[in-house]
Amino acid sequence: LARGPVAPDLVGRHVVISAGGTREPLDPVRYLGNRSSGKQGYALARTAVARGARVTLIEANTGLPDPSGADVVRAGTAMQLREAVLKAASDADVVVMAAAVADFRPAEYATGKIKKKDGQEPAPITLVRNPDILAEVAGRRARPEQIVVGFAAETDDVLANGREKLRRKGCDLLVVNEVGERRTFGSEENEAVVLAAGGGETPVPFGPKEALADTVWDLVSARLG
Ligand code: CTP
Ligand code: CA
Repeated sequence: LARGPVAPDLVGRHVVISAGGTREPLDPVRYLGNRSSGKQGYALARTAVARGARVTLIEANTGLPDPSGADVVRAGTAMQLREAVLKAASDADVVVMAAAVADFRPAEYATGKIKKKDGQEPAPITLVRNPDILAEVAGRRARPEQIVVGFAAETDDVLANGREKLRRKGCDLLVVNEVGERRTFGSEENEAVVLAAGGGETPVPFGPKEALADTVWDLVSARLG
């Protein structure tokens, strides 16, 4: 790590991190998914372990090796992720939602593989909304002093959209990425602005995902007091 020795400022803290991207099944062989790699969430888990936290990492479809020192829980779909996050959040000091949660899921799951038929148009796929896990965690606050952190990738009006999303979700910090050419999904680097409830704005220059993770923990640590 570029920072050298780190302060063990998260000793005695339980942090819950979601990472990866949910997959919403259509039938036993197909799903609706997204391109989140999970690398930012894993960087958050590694850095939190290094700073002394007890870490619960809830991972969705990353295929990444378990970070040492973290308790890893697997969740495939948004509904499974919700259940795992709410359970782990009940005694958490910090909850960080780095996972890309599908906004919608197929209204129906076909228990057998969907087959095409000659001369027949494909049936449309009806979607329903998934619950907003971040808003739910932030609204519920299993502990009054719990810190809740969200992520957002935006293409336009990054700061204005981020500010509005922070308010709408009711979280304490929102890490806003501008989705662009260098910052493709799956890369090892990231560039972001961390927005804080109450007005703070911390730019994080383009660099390793660990550096962004450490900035998040610095801001969380300051808020934990
Ligand atoms: N999130 C969540 N549950 C959902 C959707 C999103 O917990 N059903 C969380 C993500 O983990 C992320 C944050 O909310 O931390 C922002 O996700 P994003 O997709 O940017 O927000 P949305 O409210 O879904 O807005 P948009 O319409 O821009 O996708
Ligand atoms: Ca979304």
